[in-house]
Amino acid sequence: MTSATPFLTAIVEADLALMTENLKKLVSAGHPILHAAADHLFGAGGKRLRPAVVLLASRATMPDQNLTAYHRSLAEITEMIHTASLVHDDVLDESEVRRGIATVHSSFGNRVAVLAGDFLFAQSSWYLANLNNLEVVKLLSRVIMDLAEGEILQGLNRFDIISIDAYLEKTYYKTASLIANSAKSAALLSGAPEPVAQDLYNYGRNLGLAFQIIDDIFDFTASAEVLGKPVGSDLKSGNLTAPVLFALEDYPQLEKFILREFAQEGDLEQTLSLVKNSRGLQRARDLAVHFAHTAVENLAQLPASVSRQALINLTEHVINRSS
Ligand code: IPE
Ligand code: IPE
Ligand code: MG
Ligand code: MG
Repeated sequence: MTSATPFLTAIVEADLALMTENLKKLVSAGHPILHAAADHLFGAGGKRLRPAVVLLASRATMPDQNLTAYHRSLAEITEMIHTASLVHDDVLDESEVRRGIATVHSSFGNRVAVLAGDFLFAQSSWYLANLNNLEVVKLLSRVIMDLAEGEILQGLNRFDIISIDAYLEKTYYKTASLIANSAKSAALLSGAPEPVAQDLYNYGRNLGLAFQIIDDIFDFTASAEVLGKPVGSDLKSGNLTAPVLFALEDYPQLEKFILREFAQEGDLEQTLSLVKNSRGLQRARDLAVHFAHTAVENLAQLPASVSRQALINLTEHVINRSS
């Protein structure tokens, strides 16, 4: 099972533990079945990267003040939106395991999983409205649209050999938009001026892109036990990610296997071994490192603080993590 990102422990571990407890309490208000489904996921943990970013961005933009209830609520909302997207993503991907335990749809069925995801999105909107900050409401409701747009783009582009730019655009919608806009929202709740909020947005965007590229590499290289979720499914389902898109430049013959959707025996195995022999995995990693470095540059104008340093360390952790 995954735990909170270990290198952050000293600074936000207590805040994250409180957030997880609050999340469990918040979902208890719903229908018992939805409650069971949501409680199941929050109980299993997850890395809690997004609320960690929110809490650190909050602290980094008001170094001498305590976190407010609004900042804490934003961290919970961000994790709620993320978890909702995972519940739906697992239905679409037909994944059986998440965070080391059975997914909501495999335990309770697709109907409950769709409703549980909807419930979490709806609940996050309610708490969002209660932040009483229209700009933040606009930013995060846009994120909920972006998440759906990302999944739709991915669904429409199955087995399409897309450009790296199109891959990054989809990745922004799927993953980076939430991290970017929640980091920006944290700065706005701190009363930071617009250029600072924009720096936090850029940081979140670049960190998010790096994070998803590494996740896409793991789908080729990691084990299900370590990740707490299945591996090897992106390629099989036609979700062509950075490693294979780069590999195509080394081995154009991959195209025929992809276009016939791995219909012939051995197609998938050959594709996998060509990807692993190509420069695809390394080039994907280089791209993630590039975004991680850019994320650090985005923090250059922030005053030095322990929290700013933790945000910087986070970029390295995202690249060097093993799960
Ligand atoms: C999974 O996110 C979806 C991606 C954007 C890759 P995480 O890897 O942050 O999942 P949890 O929250 O730790 O389970
Ligand atoms: C991330 O994509 C899903 C969302 C952001 C909704 P993935 O499909 O790569 O996530 P995992 O690998 O299932 O966690
Ligand atoms: Mg998935
Ligand atoms: Mg993945």
